[in-house]
Amino acid sequence: MIRFLLNDRLVSVEECSPSLTILEYLRTTEVQRGTKEGCASGDCGACTVVVAEPDGDQLRYTSLNSCITFVGTLHGKQLLTVEHLESAGELHPVQQAMVDWHGSQCGFCTPGFIMSMFALYKSGDAVNRASIERALAGNLCRCTGYRPIIDAALSLAGKGAEDCFSEREVDIYARLQKIREEWPSGSLKQGDRLFFSPTNSDELAALLQSHDSAQLVAGGTDLALGVTQQLKQPGVLIYTGLVKELTDIEVYDDHLLVGGGVSYARLEPVLEAHLPAFSQLLERLGSLQIRNQGTLAGNVANASPIGDTPPVLLALAARVHVRSGNRCEVIDIDQFFTGYRQTALPDAGFIEQIEIPLKADYRLHVFKVSKRLDDDISAVCAAFSLKVEAGIVTDARLGFGGMAATPARALKAEQALIGQRFDEAGIAAAQAALENDFSPIDDVRATGSYRMQVARNLLLRAVLEQNNDQAEPLEVVQYA
Ligand SMILES: Cc1cc2nc3c(=O)[nH]c(=O)nc-3n(C[C@H](O)[C@H](O)[C@H](O)COP(=O)(O)OP(=O)(O)OC[C@H]3O[C@@H](n4cnc5c(N)ncnc54)[C@H](O)[C@@H]3O)c2cc1C
Ligand code: FES
Ligand code: FES
Repeated sequence: MIRFLLNDRLVSVEECSPSLTILEYLRTTEVQRGTKEGCASGDCGACTVVVAEPDGDQLRYTSLNSCITFVGTLHGKQLLTVEHLESAGELHPVQQAMVDWHGSQCGFCTPGFIMSMFALYKSGDAVNRASIERALAGNLCRCTGYRPIIDAALSLAGKGAEDCFSEREVDIYARLQKIREEWPSGSLKQGDRLFFSPTNSDELAALLQSHDSAQLVAGGTDLALGVTQQLKQPGVLIYTGLVKELTDIEVYDDHLLVGGGVSYARLEPVLEAHLPAFSQLLERLGSLQIRNQGTLAGNVANASPIGDTPPVLLALAARVHVRSGNRCEVIDIDQFFTGYRQTALPDAGFIEQIEIPLKADYRLHVFKVSKRLDDDISAVCAAFSLKVEAGIVTDARLGFGGMAATPARALKAEQALIGQRFDEAGIAAAQAALENDFSPIDDVRATGSYRMQVARNLLLRAVLEQNNDQAEPLEVVQYA
C-alpha cells in the first residue's frame, strides 16, 4: 500500500497498475480534471502538479510532469493540483496574478502554468525574469502568448511565499513524517504486476534479485515514455527515490559521490560550486519539471548516445559504483557503455553512486548544440577536460555525445592534442583526427557532416574560451 496526502486528505492505494501515472489517477480515480493532458511525454507542461516532501526541517515544493510520473512515487508525499490553490473562496496570489495580467485565453495550458508559478512562489527563490524563465520553460502556451504570463509572474516579485499553505505547513510536515515513520516502504499491486518503494540499499538489492523482470524507476523521465508512448506495461517496478543510500551527495576534496536517486535539481547547486561548466549544462537539460525528477544515474543507465551527461562523465573520468546482491564493484565510465543502449551493469544490478573526480589543475569545457535553447535534445554534446601547462596540452579527455552509437571518447583526437600548443594551429591535427574517431549518422536532429563540423568547431571554441575567459562557457548554436 502507498499513502500520500492529496492536499490535506490522506489517500491510501493498494490495488492499481504499477504504471498508473499521477495524471491518469487524478483525472479518472479522483475525477479532478483541472490537470490537463497535452502531450503525455513531458514536453508541454499542461499536466504540471506540485509535490511537497520533507527536506530537513521544512517542506520542499517541486513541480513535475504528472503525465510521466507514476502514482507509486507519491508514498509519503503531498500532491497539490490547481484545484487545491484557492482557499476560503479566495484565489491564490498566483491565480489572481494570472487574472489581473490577462495570462489566460483558451485556458488549456493555464493550470500547468499556475502550478509551475506556484512552485516558484513556494521555493523561496527571488522572483525575477531569470527565475521565471527557468520555472516556465517547460510550459507551452499556444494562444495567450508569453508576455502576459511572464508579466503575471513578475508581479509576484517581492511578495514572499506566505499563503494558506504556509499556515498548514507544520501540520502537513508532521503528517508526512508520520507516514514515513509508520510505513517506511510503499507498494502497489495489480494481479502479478507490482510496484515497490524500498527505503534502503539492502532491500533494493533483495527485491531486484527476487524479481527477474523488475525494472528500476528513478525520475521515470525516460522509462515512463515507454508506457505513455509505446503502451508498454512493465511487470515489476522498483522506485529508487526513497532509498536512503541513493539520495545523498557526498563532497570530498578530490571527488563527489552522487547517489543513484539524486535529482538534477538537487545536484545543480553542488556542481555549481565545484564544476560550474557541468552545472550550466544541467540548466539546458530538459525543463525544470524534468530536472526535478530526472537523475544522473537514470541518464547513465539509459545509455542513450545523445544523453547529455555521459560525455561530461567520460571527460571527467567518472566511476560508476554498482551493486548486485551483496557484490559491489566500481566500473570506470570508459568501460560502462558497451553498445547501443547497452551497459556493463550486472544482472539484478543497480547504480548506487556515481563518483566524479575533482581536479584543480584541469579545465572543463562543456557544449550542448541543439535547435532550441530550452528543453531540447542535443544534436552534439561535447565535454573536454584539459590540462594545459605553459600553453601546451599535457593531458586531455574528450567526451562526445551524438557522434557514435554510444557516448564515447575521441581517443585519436586526444592523442593528437597532447603535446601541442592549445591554440588554433595546435588543435588542427586533433580536429582532423576526429574523422578517424567517429562516423556520425544523419538523423532528425542533424546530418553526419554537420555533426562532424560542429565537433571540430567545438575544439576551436574551447581554445577561444581558454584564451579568452570573457567568452561564454556554454554556447548554443542554432541551425536551420
Ligand atoms: C521532456 C523531456 C526532456 C528531456 N531532455 C533531456 C535532455 O535535454 N538531455 C538528456 O540527456 N536527457 C533528456 N531527457 C531524458 C531523461 O530526462 C534523462 O535521461 C534522465 O536523466 C533520466 O533519468 P530518470 O531518473 O528519469 O530515469 P528513469 O526514467 O527513471 O530510468 C531510466 C533508465 O535507467 C534505469 N535506472 C534508473 N535508476 C537506476 C539506477 N540507480 N541503477 C541502474 N539503473 C537505473 C531505469 O531502469 C531505466 O532503464 C528528457 C526527457 C524528457 C521526457
Ligand atoms: S501532458 Fe505534456 S508534459 Fe505532461
Ligand atoms: S491559453 Fe490557450 S494554450 Fe495557453
